[in-house]
Amino acid sequence: MTNEANTSRPAAAAGTFALGGDLPVARLGFGAMRLPTGTFTGPVRDPEDGIAVLRRAVELGVNHIDTASFYRRGDVVANELIRRALAPYPDGLVIATKVGPMRGPDGTPFGQATPGQLRGLVEDNLRELGVDHLDLVYLRVGGQNPPGGELIADRFAALAALRDEGLIRHLGVSNVDAAQLAEARAIAPVAAVQNAYHVQATADAALLAECARTGTAFVPFFPLGGGLDPIDTTRLEKTAARHGATVQQVALAALLAASPVMLPIPGTGSVAHLEENVGAASIRLTPEDIASLAG
Ligand SMILES: NC(=O)c1ccc[n+]([C@@H]2O[C@H](COP(=O)([O-])OP(=O)(O)OC[C@H]3O[C@@H](n4cnc5c(N)ncnc54)[C@H](OP(=O)(O)O)[C@@H]3O)[C@@H](O)[C@H]2O)c1
Repeated sequence: MTNEANTSRPAAAAGTFALGGDLPVARLGFGAMRLPTGTFTGPVRDPEDGIAVLRRAVELGVNHIDTASFYRRGDVVANELIRRALAPYPDGLVIATKVGPMRGPDGTPFGQATPGQLRGLVEDNLRELGVDHLDLVYLRVGGQNPPGGELIADRFAALAALRDEGLIRHLGVSNVDAAQLAEARAIAPVAAVQNAYHVQATADAALLAECARTGTAFVPFFPLGGGLDPIDTTRLEKTAARHGATVQQVALAALLAASPVMLPIPGTGSVAHLEENVGAASIRLTPEDIASLAG
């Protein structure tokens, strides 16, 4: 479904980005949240399907996988699927994880960790992924509400100390506003910001511009509108038809076109959807296309 010939590494067809300045990744990545379960209340998914998706992602050149220890349902744990599917990990694979939310008894995120609890959460990720250090760890701030309104310095400083110890290579922040990003940067370098963003949910455009100005990766979560703010796909249909693409591919291509620091991580538990999403990296939208997509 792409409009250009596939390369041997289709996920890199929209270029690469050096996370933290030294970890080059294909700009089209993968989010692991949908491997244990497709929806927030849905049934657990077959772990063998998740393993197939992860292996296919790497075959397609995806080398930026976003995960978290709290991506789990029942016995199916995203981090463990990543380890089962991909370890020993191929050279150049970057696994990003996030800490901050604590888990309630049923595994769902519940409340926020104190600075002192973050080490244990980092160690959970190290153990589940079977690694001696983590490539990129985000401090995930807040609950389901928009970013802002709380201080993060103490928690970010706790992660910076773990970075100094060698347990973490790069730090990121997730679900933050500009003030919180500045607060974190005053403590340690911030390699990536991960906030909700899609073609029609662009409230963080100024934060994206700030990331572009400073060479910081901007990793949009819910890039396909998988959260509470779905995409009005009717606005994408004409462009999709013109490119022989799907509306999901157009949504991802628009993000890739928005900024060279934009690294989408669409989530799926389906090999067919994964292949389609990776195909978006080869689609080149025109400025007229892009202007027609906004909500
Ligand atoms: N930092 C944070 O707070 C935070 C919050 C949420 C997510 N994340 C990260 O961001 C990643 C992306 O977000 P997300 O996975 O929640 O949402 P998303 O990428 O916006 O959308 C995923 C949803 O779209 C479906 N889908 C995927 N590809 C499709 C396609 N080609 N055609 C039709 N449907 C398709 C998936 O269903 P199927 O599985 O059935 O394909 C799933 O229901 C997550 O996986 C996670 O790593 C971070």
